[in-house]
Amino acid sequence: MRIMVLLFIYFSWSTCNEDIVVLILARGGSKGIPLKNLQTVGGLSLVARSILTARKAGLLNITVSTDHPLIALEALKYGASVFRRSSITAAHYAPSIWGVEEFALSMPLAKIIVLLQATSPFLRYSDLQEALKKLQHPRSYDCVFSVISRPRRQDWNGELIETGAFYVSRVEIIKQGFLQNKNCTILEVSTEESLEVDSYYDLQVANALLNSNLVSSE
Ligand SMILES: *[C@@H]1O[C@H](CO)[C@@H](O)[C@H](O)[C@H]1NC(C)=O
Ligand SMILES: *[C@@H]1O[C@H](CO)[C@@H](O)[C@H](O)[C@H]1NC(C)=O
Repeated sequence: MRIMVLLFIYFSWSTCNEDIVVLILARGGSKGIPLKNLQTVGGLSLVARSILTARKAGLLNITVSTDHPLIALEALKYGASVFRRSSITAAHYAPSIWGVEEFALSMPLAKIIVLLQATSPFLRYSDLQEALKKLQHPRSYDCVFSVISRPRRQDWNGELIETGAFYVSRVEIIKQGFLQNKNCTILEVSTEESLEVDSYYDLQVANALLNSNLVSSE
C-alpha cells in the first residue's frame, strides 16, 4: 500500500511537469478540406485526437490555438485551453513558427513546447513520451522531431524524412524564431503514424485503416 502511494506520488511528480506545454495549431481555414481540424477519424475529430494523445502521454497543459469558434468549442469540450490566434499567424501563408512564437510569448514560464500536428491522427502517445526522454538523455538537446525512414532503391542506406507530426522544442530556440536547430535529435516513428490528412481521400484512408484494424486506435 505504502509503495503504491509512493509510486503514485512519483508518477504524478514526473508527469505533471509545469514547464512542458502542448500546443496544437488549428486554424479554421484550410485549402483542401473546410474546417479540416474538425473532421473525424474513428469518430473523433482531429483536434480531439491530438488532445487525447497528449493527455495519454501524461501531458496535462494542453492549448489549442485557433481563430475559429467551433474549433475553440471542441478544444474546451476535451478539456484543453484555448489561445486566440491572431488573423496574421492564422493566414494560410504564415509559417507554423509564427503561431508557436506568438503562443510562447503568452507563456513566460514554459520551457519546452510540444507542437502537435492535428492532421497526424495516428501519432502514438508512447512516441511523445519517448521524444521527451530523448530531449534529455543520453544528453541534452534543443529539439526533437519525428521522422520516418524510407529505403532508397540503389543505395544501401535509407533516407530520413521529417513527418511534421510533432516538434518538441525548447522555448529559447522558439524565441529565436526556430523550431529546429543543429542541436536537434530525431525520433523514428512508424509509417502509419506518418499519415497526414490533407484531403478527403486521406480522411477516407485514415478511417479505412482504423476500421480494418491496421492501426491501433489508441
Ligand atoms: C500551463 O503552463 C503555463 C506555463 O508554465 C502556465 O502559465 C499555465 O497557467 C498552465 N496552464 C494550466 C491550465 O495549467
Ligand atoms: C544542446 O542543447 C542543450 C539543451 O539546451 C544544451 O545544454 C547543450 O549545450 C547544447 N549543445 C550544443 C552543442 O549546442
